[in-house]
Amino acid sequence: MYSVNNSVNLLASTTNKTDMTIKQIIGFLEPKNQNLPFAEIRHDFKNIPVVVVPVVEGKEKKLKKVFKFLKDKISGEKGEKKEIIHNNQIFYFAGIGKEKDVTSRNMRRFFGSSYLSASASKPKQIGFYCPLEWVKEAALGIDVSALNPAMFKPKFKKEKAPDVIFTHPEFKTKKAQAVKAMKLGQAVAEGKNLMRILGAIPPNVLSPKMYADVILQLVKKWKVKCVRVSKDKLKKYGLINAVSAGSQYNSELLILTIHPKKGKTQKATAMIGKGLCYDSGGLQGKQSHMKFMKEDMAGSASVLGTVRTIVNGGLDVKQTTHFVIGLAENMMGSEAMRADDVYMAGDGQTVEIIHTDAEGRLVLGDCICYVKNNFKNTDHFYTIATLTGSCIVALGEHYTGVVCNDNELGCKITETGKEVGEYMHVGPWDMDYDDNNSPNASMANLGENDREAGWLKAGLFIYRFVPKAKKGKDQTKFSHFDIAASIDMNEKGKTWRRKGFSSGIGVGLLSELLTK
Ligand code: BES
Ligand code: ZN
Ligand code: ZN
Repeated sequence: MYSVNNSVNLLASTTNKTDMTIKQIIGFLEPKNQNLPFAEIRHDFKNIPVVVVPVVEGKEKKLKKVFKFLKDKISGEKGEKKEIIHNNQIFYFAGIGKEKDVTSRNMRRFFGSSYLSASASKPKQIGFYCPLEWVKEAALGIDVSALNPAMFKPKFKKEKAPDVIFTHPEFKTKKAQAVKAMKLGQAVAEGKNLMRILGAIPPNVLSPKMYADVILQLVKKWKVKCVRVSKDKLKKYGLINAVSAGSQYNSELLILTIHPKKGKTQKATAMIGKGLCYDSGGLQGKQSHMKFMKEDMAGSASVLGTVRTIVNGGLDVKQTTHFVIGLAENMMGSEAMRADDVYMAGDGQTVEIIHTDAEGRLVLGDCICYVKNNFKNTDHFYTIATLTGSCIVALGEHYTGVVCNDNELGCKITETGKEVGEYMHVGPWDMDYDDNNSPNASMANLGENDREAGWLKAGLFIYRFVPKAKKGKDQTKFSHFDIAASIDMNEKGKTWRRKGFSSGIGVGLLSELLTK
């Protein structure tokens, strides 16, 4: 991929090697280079060497009409497996469980796992018996599972991935709908895989500068408007700059804007992502907890992945949306921020540093300031970040922690999360949790009692920057997503995704939330 022992050279901004590296990164991010399977829709399963057939309890009788050779008793019980060879074809009947187990998340996992296990014998094609209602999740699950981190190895030899055929008798009449659903699933997977690849690139390569350069090249391809805020204009944003003070790289702020197809709207949405290219913890360092902090930019990558999904999936945003990416590197250089320092945000509020490792909220706070200084019509503020260890302790990897000031929006987020299989848990909204007070500054970057409910307190710290509506006007809507756990950055691997890449959480939810 890149010569690691030459990383200093690679990062020098004027050499051709830097261009090479950007080229390689852009190459990795291009779906056609990711060795994903070619997929198609068919109503029959003739001559497909391997066919996977999911069986739901109570629905097995229907299957016997399609697979007439099926004489064995099949219950559909979760985990049940039956291999039947017929006409030189191998059929794997696999129990899904009860109807209530047919969730978006389970189906995506089922198809992802089945694709990986059926690929082991290297068939040319793998057929999936799949009714229309599952096609999107199936296509999505398969493309996420197929991404292989071996692509980063220096002498990686591509082996063609087995083709995928989604097959069901109903596609005789519903082929167009099935193709549409498949493309939508693939578009979400594209966004997720973009996020997952960026998160896996080592931090000595993906510096804030390199990441910003990569984004500029991507938006050109996607034809999305993008502003990279100049160093000069960024000067007054003291919080984001404090985070990068100990790093050789400056902070970066990029704003990608998408309008609805029918044109710009009066009100706008801001979708802001934390992009810590590395979080060493600063002077109060992380020590042995540093591993995987290359992926502390996952929030920003989720925002970028969402843009890709929206653009490539042909989705339409509900209102003008500014996708804001705040990049920084939290390091320990001699100018690094100290505990006790006080910095001024872009809106004039000051923050006393209590802990140098609570840096993400500083970046997000200033991103909000930039939005309110430049897009005064913004009425929805969203932030997404790998923000707190507290959220990991509270919820574990299965749910994203949500801090939201609006009940209706909170319910919508929970519902949408269920629909797309990215589960959200909305925590209590209560100002009593906001103990981010400081005697000598507008606020402190850590509460007085940092052992309790840190994920909620961090959300309320961020909310301090959100503009409050005047009396009688609609309150600005705010929702913060803490993906510290649900990103699954320790990359242990699952049966439905390979070790070396994280989950890609956020893209499914955000793309749905902004467009439906
Ligand atoms: N990036 C971390 C949070 C994190 C930890 C994400 C582990 C993913 C995995 C964040 O910047 C951080 O360090 N938070 C501290 C704050 C603390 C010092 C108040 C934390 O939660 O431990
Ligand atoms: Zn930190
Ligand atoms: Zn961090």
